Amino acid sequence: FHVDWDLMTAEKAGFDHFMLKEINEQPKAYRDTMRGRISEDGRSVALPELKITAEQLKGINRVHIVACGTALHAGLVGKNVIESLVRIPVETDVASEYRYRSPIITPDTLVIVVSQSGETADTLAALREAQRCGARVLAITNVVGSSVAREADDVIITLAGPEIAVASTKAYSSQLIAFFLFGLYWAQVVGKQDEAAVSHVLSAMQALPEQVEKILAQAEVLKEVAESISHHSSLFFIGRGVDYAVAMEGSLKLKEISYIHSEAYAAGELKHGTLALIEEGTPVIALLTQEELYEKMLSNIKETKARGADVLGIVNEGHESEIAKSVDRYFSIPRTLPLLTPALSVIPLQLISYYASLALGHDVDKPRNLAKSVTVE
Ligand code: AGP
Repeated sequence: FHVDWDLMTAEKAGFDHFMLKEINEQPKAYRDTMRGRISEDGRSVALPELKITAEQLKGINRVHIVACGTALHAGLVGKNVIESLVRIPVETDVASEYRYRSPIITPDTLVIVVSQSGETADTLAALREAQRCGARVLAITNVVGSSVAREADDVIITLAGPEIAVASTKAYSSQLIAFFLFGLYWAQVVGKQDEAAVSHVLSAMQALPEQVEKILAQAEVLKEVAESISHHSSLFFIGRGVDYAVAMEGSLKLKEISYIHSEAYAAGELKHGTLALIEEGTPVIALLTQEELYEKMLSNIKETKARGADVLGIVNEGHESEIAKSVDRYFSIPRTLPLLTPALSVIPLQLISYYASLALGHDVDKPRNLAKSVTVE
């Protein structure tokens, strides 16, 4: 009796690639990141790991979120989360730019660095620069004991578990959960949101893992979409508000592992130049999860369709009929609060990238020219 076995295969737990395994681990990553941080009655957030006091949080008047790559994209969602829940201005910046532009850091600035590995050189350098200028630094990281975790003043650990694939998936989405929790915690301790509002968001957050499972169950549909996209040399992701932030992540993921050129655009910006690149058959992935922006999005989609674009809409369940006429295909995601949608809408984009890379025969887990952790500046 002989069994073919190797450690890598065993660690993939039956999945063909680490990336697919990690995509499928997101419901667990969400549950683990929330576990113990939401009170039993579901009405408040507890982050006992934070040393920053309520008094100190009351004194913060601006936030800088600094990170690289996918972590930066989580930070773009984080900006929306903090601005909408706490009503404090937030800037999100590329770590390799931040420290060289003499950022205006005052004692009432909170700098949030986001890093899966906690070892990214540019992020670490930005953290040090922020501290040198007197700011308090909060780190959101997946690795306990990493350099970023050790040097930051406060740390929120995402409990995504080890991420092996170079393309980040469950770390990104767990960073979103960390931002939701931190935004709610901050809003609650400084009195910007009342208990009813906090518990409303928390109950929507607790439904997310099951909603992700529903999306994962439809992966086969996305495989077909990915195969058709894989024949193209360029495509566009468009969205408004948090959908634009997710579009940026979808575009990076696709470029990173399928090597297909793509661009993410704030949908309203297309007509200021980029529309010239849309021609017959150009694939466009349009995120339509923000109901108050539907009308504007539909008119932007119309602009692309008039130039021959082939549009896939990522839409909220129950709103398909409003959108179906304006797109060529759509994929529905379960309904959640508008601010929380990135935790769902990113999943189909991750799967599309995965299947496109697979269709093109690339090394999904180890894309060319890239390393999991970038420890040089
Ligand atoms: C994500 O898919 C990329 N591999 C990359 O952009 C990554 O997110 C970036 O290098 C930052 O890494 P970090 O989160 O470990 O700091």
